[in-house]
Amino acid sequence: MSKIEVRDLDLFYGDFQALYSVDMDIKANEVTAFIGPSGCGKSTFIKTLNRMNDLVENCKINGTVKIDGVDIYKPSYDVNLLRKNVGMVFQNPNPFPMSIFDNIAYGPRTHGIKSKKDLEEIVERSLKNAAIWDEVKDKLNRNAKSLSGGQQQRICIARALAVEPEVLLMDEPTSALDPISTMKIEDLVSELKEKYTIVMVTHNMQQAARVSDKTAFFLQGKVLEFGETDQIFNTPKNEETERYVTGRFG
Ligand SMILES: Nc1ncnc2c1ncn2[C@@H]1O[C@H](COP(=O)(O)OP(=O)(O)OP(=O)(O)O)[C@@H](O)[C@H]1O
Ligand SMILES: [Mg+2]
Repeated sequence: MSKIEVRDLDLFYGDFQALYSVDMDIKANEVTAFIGPSGCGKSTFIKTLNRMNDLVENCKINGTVKIDGVDIYKPSYDVNLLRKNVGMVFQNPNPFPMSIFDNIAYGPRTHGIKSKKDLEEIVERSLKNAAIWDEVKDKLNRNAKSLSGGQQQRICIARALAVEPEVLLMDEPTSALDPISTMKIEDLVSELKEKYTIVMVTHNMQQAARVSDKTAFFLQGKVLEFGETDQIFNTPKNEETERYVTGRFG
């Protein structure tokens, strides 16, 4: 069974249709990349996977999104639990204006963990998993906003990991970062997929080719092609996909 199964998903912002009957199966322990030109619906789609669009007024969705076989849009579904299981990292690093420690402990605390020892363990483990422990272990009380952009993004990844999600959604996680920080995050993604299901939006073709197992090409609200990353980049079936991945688009 796929970790995430999307069927015939349409999404409207008011009268504007942003997604057209999207079908997709996303497997556990794989990295799935979404590529496509600006405005084609990548962010809109990734946000449907943890119902972030619930927060957008006038947003209407038809179709189904199942995680572990359960429809996440059914009325009885616990959205807080969903957001715990499906973490998200955004384009611009957005740590909370508080200490590094408190950033990571924030989620676990809201889920009722109070013991100092337990929180310390979670903070250390999460920072290690996000490959930033060595850089910050001596300054956990410093404000997270005082770190570099690349460090802040890894803090955000650690914060997402701290509540032990099963799925990690990343919307252009490296677009604000320098090449070295980008490389660290790419290495991290390759490690994290052993434990998590990762979905990543990227404008960087090399990045998609380097880190993902599957790639979906979006164009004007539709998934034009979805398959093994090697196939999408080397032998695309769709002409538009080929034009896009070879840089001849537009
Ligand atoms: N809250 C909103 N209300 C109305 N329209 C929206 C909203 N968010 C996005 N859209 C529209 O939906 C379409 C898809 O936007 P989306 O942000 O998903 O694109 P994207 O593929 O992520 O683009 P980019 O690569 O620039 O981030 C665009 O036409 C956009 O203007
Ligand atoms: Mg976007």
